[in-house]
Amino acid sequence: MPTQPPDYRSPKVTVIGAGNVGGMLAQRIAENNLADVVLCDIVQGKPQGLALDLLQARAIANHDREIIGTNDYDDTKNSDVIVLTAGLPRKEGMSRNDLLRINAGIVKDVVAKAIAQSPNAILIVVTNPLDVMTYLAWQVSGLPTHQVIGMAGVLDASRFQTFIAMELGISSADINAMVLGGHGDLMVPLPRFSTVNGIPITELMPKEAIARIVERTRNGGAEIVKLMQTGSAYFAPSAAAYVMVESILRDRHRIFPAAVYLSGEYGLKDIFMGVPMQLGRQGVKKVIELQLTNPELATLHKSAAAIQENISLL
Ligand code: APR
Repeated sequence: MPTQPPDYRSPKVTVIGAGNVGGMLAQRIAENNLADVVLCDIVQGKPQGLALDLLQARAIANHDREIIGTNDYDDTKNSDVIVLTAGLPRKEGMSRNDLLRINAGIVKDVVAKAIAQSPNAILIVVTNPLDVMTYLAWQVSGLPTHQVIGMAGVLDASRFQTFIAMELGISSADINAMVLGGHGDLMVPLPRFSTVNGIPITELMPKEAIARIVERTRNGGAEIVKLMQTGSAYFAPSAAAYVMVESILRDRHRIFPAAVYLSGEYGLKDIFMGVPMQLGRQGVKKVIELQLTNPELATLHKSAAAIQENISLL
């Protein structure tokens, strides 16, 4: 038997919302041996069933992580990270903003219950409309701003990377992409800061190709909703949430675009919006301010104005 120091405790991640994104995220966390997972949902039996299914894969998937499914927030006690995926996903023809009122009610309810059990957790918000729900979750949680982060930029950048790779016929592994702004039609993919092993894509692709890819990135989620007809993306969203949880728990200080609280950076205040930041065990270590051109900054401010308008509806 391996011996553990007496205070040894596995990291614990609570995933609220045992739906497509939440279930897939739980699988990624457990099967990568990152942390124990609590799946918490309002529907009786659903998280319990999923947890049991994930446990039954444990021998094959070769990990020893505990996975609990529950409807009771007591089971989420002392979580290191809470990932909020509870809410309705977008349906075809429904904008992220249509979701605002319904998901705001859910976020208010579940964040209060979850933070009461884990007052020191880092909170990652996935529920849409992302930037507004992150702001609301921060308000309800009472957490310091560096402990609340919205997951969108990693996903949007990954979509941008994929389309660049497809266009150039090269490996996604060699591509870095930067997408700022709100998670929606007004997001701001930045070709100047998107590179293939250090070479800006502006040197590798004609303007028209870049414009087409930028547009496809902006509609990355909607394109999938349209194809699926019932349901929305979850493989890439859960992968994006996973790398954020991993950077926190392993204190890796990776730099990602994500929705963080701005207090003057980029000329914006009292808003959560996607910008590059450094992510470690304490949450947001640093917000990185890029030197943007005036047109880039104007597009970013347009995106911010749309978020602020929705915040005022809360
Ligand atoms: N408390 C806990 N769980 C809830 C609550 C609540 N008050 N309300 C809804 N849920 C649960 C649902 O029961 C469901 O299991 O949230 C889960 C949502 O799962 P899906 O419908 O499969 O949605 P999913 O595709 O996972 O997307 C979740 O992430 O990307 C965003 O727009 C998306 O906001 C949506 C969220």
